[in-house]
Amino acid sequence: MSVVDTLREIRAQAEQELSQLENTSALETLRVHILGKKGELTALLKGMGKLSAEERPVVGAQINEAREWITDRINQRLATLQAAEREAALKSEAIDVTEPRELPRVGSAHPITLVMDELIECFTGLGFEVLEGPEVELDHYNFELMNLPKNHPARDAQDTFYMDDNIVLRTHTSPMQARAMLTMKPPIRIICPGRVYRADEVDATHSPVFHQMEGLVIDENVSMSDLRGTLEAFVRKLYGDDIKLRFRPSFFPFTEPSAEVDLTCSACSGKGCRICKETGWVEVLGSGMVNPKVLEMCGIDSTKYSGFAFGIGLERIAMKRYGITDMRLLYEGDARLLSQLR
Ligand code: DAH
Repeated sequence: MSVVDTLREIRAQAEQELSQLENTSALETLRVHILGKKGELTALLKGMGKLSAEERPVVGAQINEAREWITDRINQRLATLQAAEREAALKSEAIDVTEPRELPRVGSAHPITLVMDELIECFTGLGFEVLEGPEVELDHYNFELMNLPKNHPARDAQDTFYMDDNIVLRTHTSPMQARAMLTMKPPIRIICPGRVYRADEVDATHSPVFHQMEGLVIDENVSMSDLRGTLEAFVRKLYGDDIKLRFRPSFFPFTEPSAEVDLTCSACSGKGCRICKETGWVEVLGSGMVNPKVLEMCGIDSTKYSGFAFGIGLERIAMKRYGITDMRLLYEGDARLLSQLR
């Protein structure tokens, strides 16, 4: 077959395939098949060496013309196919902005955490520093230095879990008082939030694990009125100006004198209801002037310094805040409940 015939055949073949092709990758295959290194036209060009000197320029011109023609046709087709493919992609990838989507579920902080954060903010605003300490505590700090020597009857109310004779799960955050006094120099103004443990059965108002926040102030000339003033400022900030505080004389071995502090019951505004056992008051914390004996045991000169301390039950505050009457609800982790308490 003459070169001219072959060229005609290649063109005709290309023409037909170009019209049938449906996408750019098939077009590329066709391009390589004709114009590529091993393509049909390239093969013709390579065969030119066999031609006579007269034939060569003529045939060369014919092949070049054919190549230009085919290249043009391929480029035209490419433009059309690319446009169609872009159109199709846009259609298939289009986002339907009217389609309702599933909203991401946002968690919420636990009510105890919320209350803890709020108290921390409140007390740091009053100049207190936050100190955290071990939940697994030495008997020495948890009891001895808090003036609860071995066999002291007040230990009965704080039965706990013993790792061994000397190591316990702390029954209150009060050991942090000792840790602070032994390591810091007065003036000391700290709060210590954290988890505490007691060997208690679970019921509506008890749990073997709960939370407290200890407060301690040591300075010269600290008096009971400073304690009262500080607690009033804190309670007002938390519950507003209408809330009333009541100090009830009490006993704690580490404070002298000691007082328990009640707040007006928020469920009945002090009229008396089931939550406050008809008293109109809810107990939220223990407090008092740091026992000079404790000061001395912890290396503080009790002739120069005095101080007050308090221990707030965070569950009590949370229950009061959210109107929860059963403490167990706070530990069940039921998202239906927790998502309501923000
Ligand atoms: N540690 C006491 C308890 O868990 C609470 C307490 C009472 C803390 C009086 C104090 C305080 O700092 O002064 O029952």
